[in-house]
Amino acid sequence: MKTDASAQFFDRAMKVLVEGCSSASRGPLNYSPHPAYFRKGKGARMWDVDGNEFIDWQLSFGCLPLGHAHPRIVEVIRNEVENGTHFATALEIEVEVAEMMVGMLDHVDKVRFANTGTEACMTAVRMARGLTGKRKVLKFEGHYHGWYDGLLVSSNPQPVTTLGHPNDPVRIPDSSGLTPGSWEDTLVAVWNDIDALERVLKRSAHEIACVMMEAVMSNMGVIPPKPGYLKHVQELCHRYDVLFYLDETVTGFRLAPGGAAELYGLQPDIVTFGKALGQGFPVAAIAGPSHVMDSIEYGKVLHYGSQNAPRLGLYAVKVMLEEMTRDDNAGFRKLTDIGNQMTDRLNAAARDAGQNMVVQNVGSMFHPVFTDLDEIDGYRAFCATADLAKYSAFAAGMREDGIFFTGNKILHNLSCTTHTQADVDRTIEVATKVLHEMPK
Ligand SMILES: Cc1ncc(COP(=O)(O)O)c(C=O)c1O
Repeated sequence: MKTDASAQFFDRAMKVLVEGCSSASRGPLNYSPHPAYFRKGKGARMWDVDGNEFIDWQLSFGCLPLGHAHPRIVEVIRNEVENGTHFATALEIEVEVAEMMVGMLDHVDKVRFANTGTEACMTAVRMARGLTGKRKVLKFEGHYHGWYDGLLVSSNPQPVTTLGHPNDPVRIPDSSGLTPGSWEDTLVAVWNDIDALERVLKRSAHEIACVMMEAVMSNMGVIPPKPGYLKHVQELCHRYDVLFYLDETVTGFRLAPGGAAELYGLQPDIVTFGKALGQGFPVAAIAGPSHVMDSIEYGKVLHYGSQNAPRLGLYAVKVMLEEMTRDDNAGFRKLTDIGNQMTDRLNAAARDAGQNMVVQNVGSMFHPVFTDLDEIDGYRAFCATADLAKYSAFAAGMREDGIFFTGNKILHNLSCTTHTQADVDRTIEVATKVLHEMPK
């Protein structure tokens, strides 16, 4: 693989960009000795500045359910940019898109558009507090909800010896620069353990505005909820009079037309969307039943933003929703089918090569973890056993042969509607070779 041009960009970049790019996960921390610099994407492929072609399974961290430069997206953006980029006024397109979303989401009456998942989560928590008058929010170890101070607690993998007793997990701030005050009202519990949740609710429900979670733990590889767990969480939230907030930034408009809520039969009180929603444009949303959403009307609970409801992005959302739901939701079925195939065939390749690689998935989201366990059922199992260096070596080996698996060791890989059977076959062929070549 040629890397000269990327190496030169990296030298230039390091003089003017921190880590040579715009997020730690894209830089040398995950791509050693330097990241490849990209210039083009089309369908499920992307090309770097050295001309290397990759089958992309990272897909912008899940932002591209239709893949890169979908012809209808290109067309609508070309047409609409002629009419202006952004007005910061009420927009016809936001009404259309909100109507489409509400039509797809049983549990949602109203939508509010923002730009990023982080903002949406921050707003949702503020709404929960404003609506209930209660101060605390309960999140879970290993769940990431963006980089807002109040939620930046216990999201990263840590040595298990630092995590404390599961009845009372140590709250571990994920960054310097956070004041203890910013996470004082953020409680942390063990996920996928209904008794652990009930213990906290028994003790503190009178102070807890919402229980918030990803439906699938997707920032620690892919860890599915145990059968019945999410419904049980919802029941407990009702019983203890606490709002149930499902962060669907990753799962929304990916796992099913109605997201994880549909897949698992849930009626959350608040949901947030991002990533797949914008099909590569920064569009996020907070959504829910009217009695919850109306908490932000007239700034009672404040949600502002000059860039809210980005006009061009909303045209992309409209196309994405139309494409994914066409032919009785064929887009969603394809994503799931490819994710399932990748999972089964990667697992078979690992067994064949005698590697301790376990691939878990929910629909289109899948991730290989090198572990001696048969299954990773929670954050602590991931922290205790995941060999992150081995994943890095595997992903680097895949990229050498034109398969872009994310370099971010704790994230996940994904399918899009433009992946073909040949892409899957080629990926498995390369994986088989890399797994055989890697030390056991
Ligand atoms: C579950 C979840 N919530 C929120 C966020 C934050 O979204 P964004 O990166 O758009 O700010 C992420 C990002 O990875 C996420 O995975």
